[in-house]
Amino acid sequence: MDYLPDDNSRYKDVDYWDERYKTEQCYDWLGSFSKFEHLLEKHVKKEDSILILGCGNSSMSGDMYSAGYRSITNVDYSSVCISTMSARHSDCPGMSWHQMDVRQLAFPDASFDVVLEKATLDAIMVGEKSPWRVSPQTACFIHQALTEISRCLKPGGRFVSVTFADPFFRKRLYAKTEYKWSVKKHSYGEGLEYFVYVMTKGEELSPEDQALEIKLREDTEKSQASRITTTQHEEEEDFMSNIDL
Ligand SMILES: C[S@@+](CC[C@H](N)C(=O)[O-])C[C@H]1O[C@@H](n2cnc3c(N)ncnc32)[C@H](O)[C@@H]1O
Repeated sequence: MDYLPDDNSRYKDVDYWDERYKTEQCYDWLGSFSKFEHLLEKHVKKEDSILILGCGNSSMSGDMYSAGYRSITNVDYSSVCISTMSARHSDCPGMSWHQMDVRQLAFPDASFDVVLEKATLDAIMVGEKSPWRVSPQTACFIHQALTEISRCLKPGGRFVSVTFADPFFRKRLYAKTEYKWSVKKHSYGEGLEYFVYVMTKGEELSPEDQALEIKLREDTEKSQASRITTTQHEEEEDFMSNIDL
C-alpha cells in the first residue's frame, strides 16, 4: 500500500494516520533509535520517567525499553495506533499507551523527567508553504504543544525533539523565554543530517538565543505596524475615490 498522502497538509489529520495504521505495521521516521541512542543517553537516564509524544508505530519505544528505559508513557492522537501498540507491548510493565492530542496533555504539572518527540512536530509543520512564514494557525498549534510540554516537565527535566528541521527554522520556535528552558542542538546522520534539540527546564536561554527572540519579536512588531499603515493608506485611498465631487 502507498502511504504517501496527496497533499502534505494531510499529515496533520488524524483520519490520515488512523487509515495508515490500519495496515502499516512499523515505520521509523528519521531513522531508528540506534542512530541517535549515543546522544540520548547523555540526556536521558534509565530511571527517568519519559513521555513520548506522537509515538506512531515506530520501534523507538520498544527499543528504548529493551535498552533499559523502564518508565515510558506513550501518546498519539490515533486510536488505531494506540490500540495496536498497547497490544504489541502488553508484556512490558512500566509502558503505557494513551490516545491524546499533544496540545492537551492529561497529565499533572511537573510529572515527567523527559518529554521526547520524533518527527511529530514535523508532521504538524510539513504542510506549511514556506518555513520562512509559518501560518498563524500552525504557529498557534505548535505554541499550544510547547506550552503543554513545558508544563508537564519537572524542574531540570528535558524536552528532546528529534527532527529534520535545521536550527535556522526550528530554534525560532523553541527559543522563547516563556517556556522557561534553554535550547541546545546536536545532530546525527550520514548524508542526510537530522537534529536533536535538548531543552532543559529551569535553565536560561543563551545570550544568542535571547537576542534571536528579541529580534523576531521586533520583526513581528515592524511587520504588524507596516500592515496597519498599508491598511490605513488603502482606506484613505478608498475614501478619496468614493467622494462624489
Ligand atoms: C511522522 S509520524 C512520527 C511517528 C514516530 N514518532 C516516529 O518517529 O516514527 C507523526 C505521528 O504523530 C502523531 N500526531 C500528529 N499530530 C498529533 C497530535 N496533534 N497529537 C498527537 N499525536 C499526533 C501521528 O498520529 C503520527 O503517529
